[in-house]
Amino acid sequence: MSSKILAIESSCDETSASVISNGKILSNIVANQEIHSKYGGVIPELASRAHQQNIVLVTKIALEKANINKKQLNALAFTRGPGLLGPLLVGISFSKAMALSLNIPLIDVNHMQAHILAHFIDDPKPNFPFLCLTVSGGHTQIVLVKSALQMEVIGETQDDAAGEAFDKAAKLMGLPYPGGHLIDKYGQEGNPLAFKFPESAMQGLNFSFSGFKTSVLYFLRDETEKNPNFVRDNLQDLCASVQHAIVGMLLAKLKRASRETGINEIAIAGGVSANSYLRKRLQEAGEKLRWNTYIPQFEYCTDNAAMIAMAAHFKFEAGEFCGHEVGPLPRLAI
Ligand code: KG4
Ligand code: ZN
Repeated sequence: MSSKILAIESSCDETSASVISNGKILSNIVANQEIHSKYGGVIPELASRAHQQNIVLVTKIALEKANINKKQLNALAFTRGPGLLGPLLVGISFSKAMALSLNIPLIDVNHMQAHILAHFIDDPKPNFPFLCLTVSGGHTQIVLVKSALQMEVIGETQDDAAGEAFDKAAKLMGLPYPGGHLIDKYGQEGNPLAFKFPESAMQGLNFSFSGFKTSVLYFLRDETEKNPNFVRDNLQDLCASVQHAIVGMLLAKLKRASRETGINEIAIAGGVSANSYLRKRLQEAGEKLRWNTYIPQFEYCTDNAAMIAMAAHFKFEAGEFCGHEVGPLPRLAI
């Protein structure tokens, strides 16, 4: 059966809409919210208001770019969670209203599953079962992906997410929010072995980044007492060393997960998978360990509705729809 689905993403600070037709993405429009950078983090109330302002226009452009009339849609998909309650509510209320007015079914999508399913937008696609390191501003997980709709979290962070570790380290260095991509940018010119930060001793496949964050805090405090310009004088080496430590912790657990499961189809997903050092180190590990590695295109790493549309496509094929009484689940698990 032919399927044309409009998907809406509004879980955090990107308002996005995408149209997918029979599994092929026709448009993916993303409106970023600059407003949060001066506050050093996402302010949920401001995010909700910005979603409210942007959602109609973003949807209109997504439909136009796809050359689809809304009356041709077969279903409407939205991010149900995890995410911020207010921002989720804007996307869900909008989707429900539009689905009701068009008399088409709704598909609820798990945001973390969608990050993983972004790998099915373009070739090469991973083979099942595969392992996916899903690293974003709110999550750090190793997921055993058995099929498009069957996933099991086999390791996850016990405190901060990897993206949070990047953003907090950036903030300590005086960089604006979100600082992950700036650490990446400055780190490319620096020496990753210039400064050594301790790696967590978390058991098994779980992660911990809170000790790392504290060690960066004390290190910068002590060095700045000796030289007030320490950060400015060493920014590139500091950024390279910070990402070396975070990426080292991520890869160590990924290698362990591959050994324990015997799976060598290895993917990364989520905002932090845009990090060039992680991408490079994953490729190197893959060559050495004979993994088949899958790295998403940049536009599908950070939050976007194309990944929600891709997940919705799989649910549509499986006949998994939800009722109009559905509500947001800010802490939805995979
Ligand atoms: O997946 P995402 O867009 O939103 C969430 O679902 O959280 O991920 C955002 C996170 C932020 O912490 C951001 O700093 C980080 O991804 N990030 C990066 C890079 N680009 C985005 N971290 C390191 N290097 C990057 N190039
Ligand atoms: Zn995300």
